[in-house]
Amino acid sequence: MIKSNLPQFLFMSNILNFDWVAGKFLLIMLCATCLACSQKETDKQTTLPAQTNTPKISLGEQLFTSNCTACHSNTTENGVGPGLKNVTKRRSKQWISAFIKNSQALIASGDKEAVALFNQYNKSVMTSFSFNEAEIDSLYTYLEKL
Ligand code: HEC
Repeated sequence: MIKSNLPQFLFMSNILNFDWVAGKFLLIMLCATCLACSQKETDKQTTLPAQTNTPKISLGEQLFTSNCTACHSNTTENGVGPGLKNVTKRRSKQWISAFIKNSQALIASGDKEAVALFNQYNKSVMTSFSFNEAEIDSLYTYLEKL
């Protein structure tokens, strides 16, 4: 009985063994895929917000977009105020800085260019901005590149 069953048993165990190895292999593959997937997921999760958080645009562009676009375009097209492309070619940095900080004070001081512009724009009053020097610098650099 035992003798006659032995080859069969070996055969069976061979199959079992094969299945076990194959099963183990499949399990490892599954784990590896899962790991790779979850790795990709976490990669996505860590890189995506990082990408959106890293400011690709300069401080100057950010300031311009959030403070100036209501009245100014970054082209030559005029809106409530003049289009600011090429403004650094017609005005000095000092003038632009003074105008941004307090255009009304510059106009009141009798600055010819400021007065003429103010009249040209039907005496529309531009908002005053209390930017620091670094912010003015980056805004100017942004305007210069338009
Ligand atoms: C509420 C509208 C308004 C906002 C906001 C505004 N401006 Fe003005 N800006 C004007 C107007 C109007 C003029 C034309 C002069 C005047 O009427 O005082 C002007 C003129 C200027 C000039 C002179 C342009 C030239 O041709 O010489 C510069 C430079 C300027 N603005 C920069 C800025 C910047 C930079 C910002 C944002 C930080 C800004 N402005 C925000 C309305 C605005």
